[in-house]
Amino acid sequence: IAFCTTAGATGEDSRLAWFRDAKLGIFIHWGIYAVDGVDESWAFYNGKVPYSEYMDQLEGFTGEHYDPFAWASLIKRSGARYAVLTAKHHDGVSLWRTPDKHFNVVDHTPFGKEALTAYCQALRRVGLKVGLYSSLIDGSHHDYPHFTREEKRYEDDPARWNRFRDFMHRQIADLNQRFRPDLVWFDGDWEFSAEQWDAPGIRAQLLATNPDVIINSRLQGYGDYGTPEQGVPITRPETEYWELCLTMNDNWGFQPQDTNYKSVNQVIRILVECLNMGGNLLLDIGPQADGTICPEQVAILEGLGRWTAKHAEAIYGTRQGIPAGHFHGPSALSPDGTTLYLFLDHVPTGPVMLKGLKNAIKSIEVVGTNQRLDWDIKMKLSWSDKPGIVYIPLPRGLCDPEVTVLALELEGPIDLFR
Ligand code: GLC
Repeated sequence: IAFCTTAGATGEDSRLAWFRDAKLGIFIHWGIYAVDGVDESWAFYNGKVPYSEYMDQLEGFTGEHYDPFAWASLIKRSGARYAVLTAKHHDGVSLWRTPDKHFNVVDHTPFGKEALTAYCQALRRVGLKVGLYSSLIDGSHHDYPHFTREEKRYEDDPARWNRFRDFMHRQIADLNQRFRPDLVWFDGDWEFSAEQWDAPGIRAQLLATNPDVIINSRLQGYGDYGTPEQGVPITRPETEYWELCLTMNDNWGFQPQDTNYKSVNQVIRILVECLNMGGNLLLDIGPQADGTICPEQVAILEGLGRWTAKHAEAIYGTRQGIPAGHFHGPSALSPDGTTLYLFLDHVPTGPVMLKGLKNAIKSIEVVGTNQRLDWDIKMKLSWSDKPGIVYIPLPRGLCDPEVTVLALELEGPIDLFR
């Protein structure tokens, strides 16, 4: 994964700086699959519904309440710093009119409008970075070899493949030039190799016209950052930059029967796990076919927003926390290492305990409350180099209903006894 692992070493840091500091983004899966509430693209690929029935959903995609400014304001209130919208999923239906004649919501649905122009404007108006998801796979294109899991259009036909590849490259170039996204989120790279997609060519083309654009990892090694999916990492992902993409319930697109939503508390605790390991969370919403976002999803974003607003200093721009063993829970550090944030997902029954901290502590504050806490150090003996144990009594009344954060201001950058 050449670019993923060397990004930091090749002066790429400044291009990726906003991304590293953003910590929270919102994924938006909006497409015709919301009409019947079936799996995005996979429904026909896996043979759950016939392709023709899947495509009949084009007729139900009205977008009549599509209000990208309302989306953008809600996303902003959640505390996210960027959003990524599915400009084109594996079904090949795009949210903008692409240069070649192909399925798109402007010409083939009652919505009849270009969704991307307004989306980009709205996000920029509220100060969010603009991400666009684009599938490399295109199950609707007659020159794309894989139609369904069972059925291939052809096996080996370089002329046909090249036709598809040229089409796909033109589409990406158009997306890049017209909308100048801050981030392009590819998907489906697993179906072909870097050479077959011409992944280096795609990367070069994007950066040539849009030099600051950030590219996710799903480009067979030619992206900038890792994208673990649906699994909160247990150990820190290897790429320097990474983002966990996660559904609120169990599906990416809108599916009314799926009410298996995570609670606000569960989402916050997953976000905190990402902060602890120096990554971002890309939390998904699936708007309905008319463009509205259902109340359950709105409630999660609003709940998240209350917590992120209160704890902003412990979120944005932080770096990964301290190794396990020092503190029983996730943590994060300010970029200069002089402030340590401890995340508490419970109301402690005794003082909060921190082991192996060599620095002197200047102050301890409950983030978002202006309340200072006292602390006490035990087992720091004059003849021993062991730093002792810091105990921080935390009154219940100061605890956040979801996750409480303590900020420890240290004398100098953090120094741990190992
Ligand atoms: C997967 C799926 C896709 C979804 C994406 C989001 O790779 O193919 O349906 O859009 O993950 O991460």
